[in-house]
Amino acid sequence: MKRDFVSILDFSRSEIEELFSVTDFLRSNNEYKPLLGKSAALIFQKPSLRTRVSFEVGVHELGGHPIFLSQEGIGIGEREKAKDIARLLSRYTGVIIARLFEHSTLLELAEHSTVPVVNALTDLSHPCQVLADVYTLKKLGKLRENAKIVFIGDGNNIVNSWLEFATIFPLHFVLAAPPGYYPDPELLKKAQTAGIGKVEIVKDPSEAAHNADVLYTDVWVSMGQEKEAKVRRKAFKGYQVSEMLLSSAKPDSVVMHCLPAHRDEEITDAVLEGSHSVVFEQAENRLHVQKAILAKILGFKLDGKLNVSLRTSQAKASS
Ligand code: CP
Ligand code: NVA
Repeated sequence: MKRDFVSILDFSRSEIEELFSVTDFLRSNNEYKPLLGKSAALIFQKPSLRTRVSFEVGVHELGGHPIFLSQEGIGIGEREKAKDIARLLSRYTGVIIARLFEHSTLLELAEHSTVPVVNALTDLSHPCQVLADVYTLKKLGKLRENAKIVFIGDGNNIVNSWLEFATIFPLHFVLAAPPGYYPDPELLKKAQTAGIGKVEIVKDPSEAAHNADVLYTDVWVSMGQEKEAKVRRKAFKGYQVSEMLLSSAKPDSVVMHCLPAHRDEEITDAVLEGSHSVVFEQAENRLHVQKAILAKILGFKLDGKLNVSLRTSQAKASS
């Protein structure tokens, strides 16, 4: 049975811990090639720097061959139905990695493919980003139970993936957003009623930032929302991660941003470049964590005998 990664909730808390052990393992063992002889289809309906390059490099480092497919090239939903693309690519490749507008298109690909499908961002969520963020916090010693993660700005796809994580890990997650820019109601309800994390939405960024362990922000205008840019810039005025806002957080707090950033809009240039910022660690960790995601969903047994089972898989792949 194939295993997709469309949401953080496709993994349990213990599987995520295991995934991070695999990430560490892969960082120090570059001879491991579980994708040897396999190709990966990368479907991108939206622009990308980090996601595209980290997946292309990651597939290559795992021994596979990445094939980039743009919307102009394949016309998903226009030239051809997503379900037909899924069935076709399943016959050529070992995994489908897709960045799409509609989350329902991703689910259609997953339903009709016989190979694993990975969410590389949709309008609803960005689970690869948030798993890399969580790994970054773990490496910095900041992934404590009840850590206060404060997101300033739009209740967008990044926030939705954080809500999914708060459904399985006891975080104190606070979103400071203007009314009308709240996250997906179902994911919010799920996170608030799971009884695991504490999840709040407030209007005032300073109130939210008080004693924060992490200040996180993202663009006010996500890809696909360009027509709303003027209205959004007005609505989010004041929702900026600035040095003043940072002074309300804990002295050893970290500042996160998934990038690309709009300097002096949602975050000041000084904070983005300042000593609290870990934005490039986050970006680098996309590569390491995504390699582990690919290894896991492609079915390698990641147990207590990690080194042995991974090396055995490698030997099988090359025989
Ligand atoms: N953070 C992120 O996903 O960046 P890209 O849009 O450049 O892939
Ligand atoms: N919320 C942003 C994230 C980019 C990585 C967007 O969807 O455009």
